[in-house]
Amino acid sequence: MTWQSIGIFDSGVGGLTVLREIMRVLPQEDTLYFGDTARVPYGTKSPETVTRYAGEIGSFLLKRDIKLLVVACNTASAVALPSLKRQMSIPVVGVIEPGARRAVEVTHSGRIGVIGTAGTIRSSAYTRAIKRLQPEAVVYTRACPLFVPLVEEGWIDNQVARLTAQNYLQELKEAGIDTLVLGCTHYPLLKALIAEVMGADVTLVDSAEETARTVAAILAEKQLQRPASEKGNHHYYVSDIPAGFVRVGNRFLGGRLGDVFQVNLEDETD
Ligand code: DGL
Repeated sequence: MTWQSIGIFDSGVGGLTVLREIMRVLPQEDTLYFGDTARVPYGTKSPETVTRYAGEIGSFLLKRDIKLLVVACNTASAVALPSLKRQMSIPVVGVIEPGARRAVEVTHSGRIGVIGTAGTIRSSAYTRAIKRLQPEAVVYTRACPLFVPLVEEGWIDNQVARLTAQNYLQELKEAGIDTLVLGCTHYPLLKALIAEVMGADVTLVDSAEETARTVAAILAEKQLQRPASEKGNHHYYVSDIPAGFVRVGNRFLGGRLGDVFQVNLEDETD
């Protein structure tokens, strides 16, 4: 199994922030990325629908012989992780647990903020994960739906982005949090702006970074890591025409995106 790829999926292009971290931490590993660009966004959809989509993608990637599955999408991790774990015979890693663990490690006051899509925030998955680890923590949450289109448009440091961030984050600032979890694939690209708005006293937790570390730890523990001397290859699948994914994806990955193939998940069902 050592030589098999790591499978990773997202509702679209955003999960490339998680892939980027996995490439950094585990440069020797091959990856298979699936972006569900035909059905994005997941953040506005019901848990039932997102769970069904996630199951279909899980089957698609499992058929391509992956050794571990990363659910890069926060919304899918928030609502579909238990059912994916039941479905898959390999380790399944979501982004919520690693982000929550890091938040609990870095907070001093126990006052933790979480931002994400409407679906992620409605699910309370981060709040539950944080409270499991630190029951006395006080968790403040805020959905920031406009951040996703802003990032995809490349508007990450202009006045529109700044005003939007100030508006969304005002209540969290007033709540006196000392830690803020960036609970959405797209938010790492807004890190500088969010840091500027929140101020130097608030530590930002990037779920993408923590997830890559968790993946490395699981592969090491199960002795599934490739030798460090190897150089990984990366393959990309999307469910809509690749043009938009390629354009935005190259920005996410700093121009390192390889060939992108369109697939129809319906052709895949047995
Ligand atoms: N990937 C989603 C997430 O991390 C954001 C985009 C969407 O709503 O599908 O929650």
